[in-house]
Amino acid sequence: MADTNSAVAIAKLRAHFPGATQSTYFDTATRGLIPIEVKTAIDEQVNHRIRGDFQKPKMFELIERVRNQYATLIGADSNEIAYTKNVSEGLNTAAAGLFLKPGDNVILCPELEHPSNIYPWLNLKSRIGIEVRAIRSLNGRMPVEAMMRAVDGKTKAIACSYVTFAPGLRSDVQSLAEYCAQRDIFFVVDAAQGIGILDIDMKRTPISAMSVSTQKGLLALYGMGFLYVRARWAERLEPVYLSRFGVDLGSAHEATGGSDNYSLMPGARRFEIGNYNFLAATAVEPSLSMINSLSTATIERHVLELSERMIAGLQRLGIPIFAPEPGMHRGHMVAIGDATDNQHDSTDNPAMQSLYQHLSDNNIQLTIRRGILRVSSHFYNNNDDVDRFIDVAQHWMSAGKT
Ligand SMILES: Cc1ncc(COP(=O)(O)O)c(C=O)c1O
Repeated sequence: MADTNSAVAIAKLRAHFPGATQSTYFDTATRGLIPIEVKTAIDEQVNHRIRGDFQKPKMFELIERVRNQYATLIGADSNEIAYTKNVSEGLNTAAAGLFLKPGDNVILCPELEHPSNIYPWLNLKSRIGIEVRAIRSLNGRMPVEAMMRAVDGKTKAIACSYVTFAPGLRSDVQSLAEYCAQRDIFFVVDAAQGIGILDIDMKRTPISAMSVSTQKGLLALYGMGFLYVRARWAERLEPVYLSRFGVDLGSAHEATGGSDNYSLMPGARRFEIGNYNFLAATAVEPSLSMINSLSTATIERHVLELSERMIAGLQRLGIPIFAPEPGMHRGHMVAIGDATDNQHDSTDNPAMQSLYQHLSDNNIQLTIRRGILRVSSHFYNNNDDVDRFIDVAQHWMSAGKT
């Protein structure tokens, strides 16, 4: 149970999200709602450009403030954070920076991964001749033990989603991280789903690198993300692209000309190249402040309670839930459906399509992926949202639409 103080803080913050009452919003897995403060921050920055009194040094202060907030969010050092455009860019930066050789292998479960965490590796397969070892999903769950069993002397990396985009279960990244850390294998995590919602801490979990974007659980814009790279790995990786912000300019001006005699920025900063997306940085700042002030441990407890309530309510109605049992796989997403191989297309599943349509017609926002309804929450959701969802689902059941 979230304690009373946290519950009050969470309830108060809901008022900052007009979208939370405009519809019953269970679609953070696609994109999060944005608090009103984001609009104020963006307007302020654009107004400076319109008036011609934009001050770039202030923007660099903003970049470092947000970098610190990212670091706080995941228990990292600020030098372990690199700004990126999105999850794909971060994963490509990490994968290419490893400078793998022909015959090296990387292990992943393509059935459960988003394309963002498949193509960077397939690209290295076709360009360099690495082997991509595809492990079959374990009934919709990340096949952690099979991934470990597939490791051999040529394994250089394991890649895995923190929470899969479908069916939306949490992976046991703790076990994989510890396993890889003991064997000096690079363990890279796509945390697009889960960042800003579930509690992940780099001091506790020895992940090598992790890539996220800001449009989902970080409650901000598309086109910005960050790549975490553990300090000792960052020093071993090489940037494929290099430009001025990846180079240690000391106190010299940012436009100082390049010379042969340069050194890379410490840690993950070496992966940054040219100018930053200042607008997206200003947008994420108020959202990050809210998330960090609540703490992801508190947010995780809150969403787990919502998931529990949702699962119990839907099970009472006899609606099938994918992986309903409690366990570490449970997070902020509830997957409705009974597909077992996670390969169905939504159009293959008329009952789920019909339920999805009914919920959407009743102003409930969610998504259908691979025949499974994905119901995802954040701190702006509350018990009333869950109860309304169950009510609307009950009408669908009573109307015999199954
Ligand atoms: C697991 C996962 N990875 C990656 C992405 C997106 O990647 P990108 O930010 O590169 O578009 C998503 C969703 O959009 C996702 O669910």
